[in-house]
Parts: sequence; structure tokens; C-alpha cells
Amino acid sequence: TGPRESTVPPRSGSASSVRVEAPGKVNLFLSVGAPGPDGYHPLTTVFQAVRLIETVTARRQSAQDHGTVTLTLEEPDADVPVDESNLAVRAATLLAQTTGVSEGVDLLLRKRVPVAGGMAGGSADAAAALVACNALWGTGLSLPELSALAARLGADVPFPLTGATAVGSGRGDLVTPIMTRGAYHWVFALAEEGLSTPAVFRRFDELTGGGQPAVRDVPEALTAALRAGDTRALAASLHNDLQAAALDLRPELAEVIAVAEEAGALRAIVSGSGPTIAALVEDPGSAQRVSRALKASGQVADVLRADAPVAGARVVG
Ligand code: C5P
Repeated sequence: TGPRESTVPPRSGSASSVRVEAPGKVNLFLSVGAPGPDGYHPLTTVFQAVRLIETVTARRQSAQDHGTVTLTLEEPDADVPVDESNLAVRAATLLAQTTGVSEGVDLLLRKRVPVAGGMAGGSADAAAALVACNALWGTGLSLPELSALAARLGADVPFPLTGATAVGSGRGDLVTPIMTRGAYHWVFALAEEGLSTPAVFRRFDELTGGGQPAVRDVPEALTAALRAGDTRALAASLHNDLQAAALDLRPELAEVIAVAEEAGALRAIVSGSGPTIAALVEDPGSAQRVSRALKASGQVADVLRADAPVAGARVVG
């Protein structure tokens, strides 16, 4: 049992609803090794939480609701399931089972992170659901305890609990915050169709012959750039081992990267397993120019702008 962190409200269990916000992420660095016997790839990554915010509101049920977990989307989306395959529903169910809660919950989800875009929106939903239900039910788990549950839900679920900027190791689920200075500005180019994370890892294995050498450490140049708040140096250090696999599956993404960089982005890379392209820009003015160029290119479904880093999952109401 770890110490109770400030992001975890005290045992109350009396409010009728709890609203929690959790951020999407971009990987500033991602080094992927050969898969282990369980099929998972060891990796070293640097996550940065971006101001694309998922909101989960957990509402107390009446006694006749039989302890089920329900999910409603604020804006219905055919690509987001609302049954027990939804990661937020699984998160609430796992917390109830682990803590012996028999009460159910009604979850309301507002999505702002692109779906299946390589920005861990579903993981943010799960992290938000854990924090919201922990407060609603008064189960009082600490942040380390919630992180352990999060890791059982998915490799990317612990990070949005912590937020800000952090190194991820293991499967990406072992999260260590790192020091950064300043704000960074991103432009995200969204694709019409998402990519499946397992499919991208499979293509990575095919391209590397399954024999990818051991994962690399985070380059000192990258952590130094973050410590200094040096956007140009950070741009030079951005790296994603999954980029080649994502580009192999979606060759047209190379053109999106070129459009962003020609319009003045310091660097544009595939975000996580893609297909979202993350363009790091110098300032909000540049963000506007890059955003306009991407929209005008006709190569993208949508463009979002966001600054970073931002806080992890927290109760806002
Ligand atoms: O953990 P999560 O369910 O989010 O992972 C989704 C899929 O991504 C896994 O089933 C696996 O195919 C792939 N993955 C991986 N190595 C990781 C993380 C994810 O191969 N470290």
C-alpha cells in the first residue's frame, strides 16, 4: 500500500457523481525490442500528456440498478463500443471486483482524443474511470494501487494517471516522471481510419525479422532538451521505432509528414502506433500555419492543436 497521493481524493463515497479529466499522449521517443513469449514487446518510451482531454463522469445508481456498469457516449461514435469491451467499463468493473464493491455505476464519456489514433484515448478513458469510481465508491485506493490495476487493463493505461512527461519501460506500463520546463506546441493530423495497435506491432516484427536488438535507453539529448525547455533540440531528438511499420501500412502518411515539415513544423512523426501524425512546432503562430497547410492538403481527416505537458487524471467536479 503506497501513500495516498493528492490526486486521489479522500474516502467520501457520498457525492452523487464525480467528473474526471484525463489526457491523451504523444510518444516523444519509442524504442521497441523483440517480443517476449507473451507476445508483448519490451519498450522504452517517453510519454508526454497533451491537452486533448477525455472526460468521464461517474454517476451513482439507484438501488434497483443491480450493480451493473453502464456507459453512454456524449456524442455517439460507431467506432467506440459501449459494452463491456470498452476499456472504461472494464476499468470500473475491475475496480469493483478488486475492492468488493457491489454497487454499479453509470459512466458518461466525452471524447476529445482521436479514436484508434495512437494517442491512447481509450487508455485515458480507463484511467479516468478508475479515478472517478475510486472517488464515487469511496474505495480510497492510492495512486500506486490504481496504477497496478491500470497495468492489468493495458500497457498504456498507467501513464494517463500520472500525466505530465514520463519514461515508460517494461511494456510501457512502468512509469517514471521526468523533469521538463516550458510548454510545447503540437499539431495533430488525424487519419480517416484508425490503425490497430497489434497490427502495427506485427508489421514491426515482420520488418525487423522478429530479431530487433535490445531496447535503447532514452537519449541524454532528449532529456536535456526537456530539462532546458528547448523545443528545437527536442524536435531533433524525437524518435519512433513504430514509424516505419505504420508508414508501411499507410504509405500516404509520409506525405502528411512532408506537408507539416514544409509548412514549418520542426519535426513531424507518427504518434505511437499511428496513424495520427504529431507535428512539433515552435509557437502558436507556427501551429496555425501548419494546421492550415494540413487542412488545405486534403490529405487529413481533421487537424487538432494542443499544448503539452498537462496533468494526469484528476477530479474536476
Ligand atoms: O496492453 P494493450 O492491450 O494496450 O496492448 C495492445 C496490443 O499492443 C497488445 O495486444 C500487443 O499486441 C501490442 N503491444 C505490444 N507490446 C507492448 C504494448 C502493446 O506488443 N509493449
